[in-house]
Amino acid sequence: MTADHYFTADPDAPLRRGEIEFTVAGRDYRLAVASGVFSAGRLDPGTAVLLRKAGLPDGRAEGAFLDLGCGYGPIACVLASEAPQVTVYAVDVNSRARDLAAENAERLGLGERVLVRAPDEVPADVTFAEIWSNPPTHVGKAELHALLERWLPRLAPGGTAWLVINRNLGGDSLHTWLVGLGWTVERMASQKGFRVLRVSGKSAD
Ligand SMILES: C[S@@+](CC[C@H](N)C(=O)[O-])C[C@H]1O[C@@H](n2cnc3c(N)ncnc32)[C@H](O)[C@@H]1O
Repeated sequence: MTADHYFTADPDAPLRRGEIEFTVAGRDYRLAVASGVFSAGRLDPGTAVLLRKAGLPDGRAEGAFLDLGCGYGPIACVLASEAPQVTVYAVDVNSRARDLAAENAERLGLGERVLVRAPDEVPADVTFAEIWSNPPTHVGKAELHALLERWLPRLAPGGTAWLVINRNLGGDSLHTWLVGLGWTVERMASQKGFRVLRVSGKSAD
């Protein structure tokens, strides 16, 4: 499977479906994937590092979470499985990715708590206890920055964002840029060339 134009709104790659399996925190997942969607051949290594190294929520977590750039939904499905009281907004511009994310959540019995939406469909008054993202880097730096400037301010007070970025695709400069905007950023892990960043409230708050 290719990743052709996975970040476009309507992939024109012919639909070839498949399934991938992975294990996170002792739980096994089998998710539907398809051509035209990011990393349809295997759980993306960056996403794997994020899910292994970031602080997964537990049964006490509450509120709304955001999976920003959800793809076929691996992060949203893990978060909703680990935290049964949480509602996860799974947001992507790619309609095929959204269809797969919704299908995967449904298959796991998470359909009522994984709300798959296009970016403009998220209600304006929702704030997020946590934002999780393996953000798109192929869209270019300006668009990546615009994406984070749009969504990070929607963290609820005391909220946390967990980001994974490939060091070779600007992980360290993104860290510096976020600090420059006033966010508190900690590099929580560095593995296989991926940086896991924990972003929290602006220091001026
Ligand atoms: C690196 S992929 C991660 C996908 C998935 N979370 C995973 O771990 O496999 C980034 C995703 O962001 C989506 N994306 C690109 N631009 C976006 C935007 N402006 N808003 C929301 N999602 C976007 C892409 O379609 C892609 O699915």
